[in-house]
Amino acid sequence: MPKPKVLVTRAWPEAVEARLKASYEVTLTPGDVIHSAADLRAAAGEYDAILPTVTDRIGAEVLAPGGRLKFIGNYGVGYSHIDTGAAKAAGIVVSNTPDVLSDCTADIAMTLLLMVARRAGEGERFLRAGLWDGWRPGQLIGRKVSGATIGIVGFGRIGQAMAQRAHHGFGMKVQVQNRSPIASEVLAAYGARQVASLDEMLSEVDFLSLHCPGGAANRHLIDARRLSLMRPDAFLINTARGEVVDETALAEALAAGRLAGAGLDVYEEEPKVTEALLTMENVALLPHLGSATRETRDAMGNRAVDNLDAFFAGREPPDRVA
Ligand code: DGY
Repeated sequence: MPKPKVLVTRAWPEAVEARLKASYEVTLTPGDVIHSAADLRAAAGEYDAILPTVTDRIGAEVLAPGGRLKFIGNYGVGYSHIDTGAAKAAGIVVSNTPDVLSDCTADIAMTLLLMVARRAGEGERFLRAGLWDGWRPGQLIGRKVSGATIGIVGFGRIGQAMAQRAHHGFGMKVQVQNRSPIASEVLAAYGARQVASLDEMLSEVDFLSLHCPGGAANRHLIDARRLSLMRPDAFLINTARGEVVDETALAEALAAGRLAGAGLDVYEEEPKVTEALLTMENVALLPHLGSATRETRDAMGNRAVDNLDAFFAGREPPDRVA
């Protein structure tokens, strides 16, 4: 029997690419170039499976019924770049890579929180610019993180990993907003309280950290109105998806002093970043580093291949999302 034909759209960890080569007729992307929409459309007619990631828009035009494509194994937990409705309609199965990146993504969220609260990015820029002339009692005074209140939006695996760090590492008080009710023992494990609505939480928290999915349902969840409900001394942290925050409204709130600062790892139109944010000292900006550790990127690749293997062995992919 011929091996299934598989396209991997970006350069993956070597060991995972070797694993793919052993079982599939695989086309890799050694130059790590982004495939055009036309390439992806053509690939749907030529390959049995595509293994894309967040930089590939897999819309309805790629997923038209009647192509060769049967399986999409996303390299990443977030899959708002894939039109799962169109995939379903075309009978194409989609999987993602949950669990393996929860700790590292929460680490980056906590890094951003500390960076903005303690003015770490600003301090480093100050020192590297040769402006530091020694210790002063009033220099670069930030906000205390330990004991502060954090609001966590979305209490899945990454939200809980953030609560673990915030509560057990920094003694923070944790409030949680989640679409469905969270079991009381799960909340108790992080000393957390679930609020009835996001609006209710906004005026109470020192830090608001986003861990909900992206996509149409959560587009601009944090908009100008909700930003205005936050306290002017509060900080917003986004490691979820760029579209969850109205970036223009955020820049306006920061410029007007209606918010103390923001830490962002994701953006509405990556790799573009709203110009005004780039010049603000109270904003920490990272280039979508949430899952960027060797261990996690290997694990994401292996998890995607586990799903691919299951699909072509006639089993249910363990991380099927459509
Ligand atoms: C994820 O896994 O969702 C990361 O953001 C990379 O796509």
